[in-house]
Amino acid sequence: MCGIVGFTGSRQAAPILLEGLKRLEYRGYDSAGVAVLDSGDISVVKTRGMIKNLCEMTHDGADVKGCIGVGHTRWATHGVPNDVNAHPHLSNNGRFAVVHNGIIENYAQLREELISSGIKFKSDTDTEVVAHLLEYYGDEDAKVAVMKTAARLKGSYVLGVLCNDGRLFAIRESGPLILGIGVGENYFASDVTALIAHTKNVIYLDDGEFAELTPDKITVYDCTGSPVTKPVSRVVWDVEAAEKGGYEHFMLKEIMEQPRALKATIEPRIKDGRIVLEELGLTDEELRDVNKIVITACGSASYAGQVGRYVIEELCRIPTQVEVASELRYRGPIVDSHTLLIAVSQSGETADTIAAIRECKEKGARTMAIVNVVGSTIAKLVDHVVYTWAGPEVAVATTKGYTTQVAILDMLAIYLADKLGRIDKERYDQLLGDLQEIPSKIQRAIDLNTHVQYLAERYYQNRAIYFIGRNLDYASCMEGSLKLKEISYIFAEAYPAGELKHGTIALIESGSPVVALACYERLFDKMVSNIEEIKARGAKVLAVALEGDKRIVSQADDFILIPRSDPLLVPIAEIIPLQLFAYYVAKANGCDIDKPKNLAKSVTVE
Ligand code: F6R
Repeated sequence: MCGIVGFTGSRQAAPILLEGLKRLEYRGYDSAGVAVLDSGDISVVKTRGMIKNLCEMTHDGADVKGCIGVGHTRWATHGVPNDVNAHPHLSNNGRFAVVHNGIIENYAQLREELISSGIKFKSDTDTEVVAHLLEYYGDEDAKVAVMKTAARLKGSYVLGVLCNDGRLFAIRESGPLILGIGVGENYFASDVTALIAHTKNVIYLDDGEFAELTPDKITVYDCTGSPVTKPVSRVVWDVEAAEKGGYEHFMLKEIMEQPRALKATIEPRIKDGRIVLEELGLTDEELRDVNKIVITACGSASYAGQVGRYVIEELCRIPTQVEVASELRYRGPIVDSHTLLIAVSQSGETADTIAAIRECKEKGARTMAIVNVVGSTIAKLVDHVVYTWAGPEVAVATTKGYTTQVAILDMLAIYLADKLGRIDKERYDQLLGDLQEIPSKIQRAIDLNTHVQYLAERYYQNRAIYFIGRNLDYASCMEGSLKLKEISYIFAEAYPAGELKHGTIALIESGSPVVALACYERLFDKMVSNIEEIKARGAKVLAVALEGDKRIVSQADDFILIPRSDPLLVPIAEIIPLQLFAYYVAKANGCDIDKPKNLAKSVTVE
């Protein structure tokens, strides 16, 4: 969702801001703008549409002079995407320019109040109240005006504020904001990807903190204005990792990166034939105290949780439920100190997941998170964190984020089962052996690329595609169907194969395309029967099964055979052809794969 950048130094700001905004494009946006200060005047250039429009309007920033400024990509929440609603917003006296990510929940009330004191509004946004509040309090020192303004706001807001006296502020309340420390210049951004071309030394702001940036100094304050000493962290991601590297789309690049991402996630956690999850910081006694696990997340991360649930329940025999965070947060979750809440999130910034964690924490649950972005809100909020080492994920549709989440959940299940004494040595060793082979098996699944592309070209014209499977295959069906619908806009839905007869089979008619996952061997015969049932009603079946499954080959219209491994670990390889299938179907339909319509990478508002 909205992206924010800020810069102060001795170089021209606009080109740096535009470059930073380009790196945040993947978050999803519908308009963009910059505000730059020169000789006491703030110039604002903003427009609906792509950053390339902004680049054209400003000759790549060359027309906007000045060495200090803020930039923004907007994902519309209040007011349609147009030039006026685009950020930055200026106070009427031209003293303050504001960029904002989040939602100001009390904006209507503040707007009324400001209008009744004679202030004129230009846009429909919630953000504009901030610019006018700053002006309202602006007789004071700019820092005091910032504090007084922030104290009036309710909701989630990450703000960049540029003052015409040359001061630059970044404010954080419930949203991502990172400060970058350069040499003779400093930055802020919503995301490290916008900073890594300039610096790897960063400060993560916490909620309720704000910072003032000058070219030589960053000072962080708490909400009362007292200085706070913050640690400087070093970012491990490099620029190449956040670029396309010759691929047509980030999504394809990220699919191809999965063997490496999985190796980085799995390998360092296996030492001397054991899974080592010391980073979790849970003692054996604390682990034994857990009698219920609740997994919460949104979208694909919740489907990773679905895979995790099957594996945890089978190996650990601990009742485990998965609930999407937007439901869990409002349901008065039944949790206590014996409950382990596992939040799963690539970005670590998903608003509903954050709220669900807070809710469960308040009710006494022990909280842990599986997160990809170091220093993210979720990573900081929970009691225990395990990182996926997927590297930056830029495409809106997650791929390596998802498979690395599943890998951590698998490892956690094996680790926990061992600590609880619920797994024997033989099974432990066998699972560990198969776990270590995952990166090479994923590579073999990726090698199916050309075959999957050929299949996608046979299916891309369908307007609805069903996915069926049982047990772990059903979990993969949910993720496979989400991948397809979100980037190709084809209706795709996942059904447990055993449920077909209870309604869905009514949809099957001659030529109905069905992706049938038949990798879960214990229920293979049942899946074969389900395939027969739908074939008898005319369905065209694309089956995904394990190498050597001859019955599938003879039954399905089309098939994809993936490498074998322990049944509990198969979902990681199984999803690869479904990711590729979604990718090539979307490509054949001419869709904007990396930035699907209406979607944002990081969903930082409810
Ligand atoms: C789908 C997708 C989304 C995310 C969801 C949660 O491809 O990427 O469904 O999985 O928005 O995001 P994170 O994992 O950042 O919390």
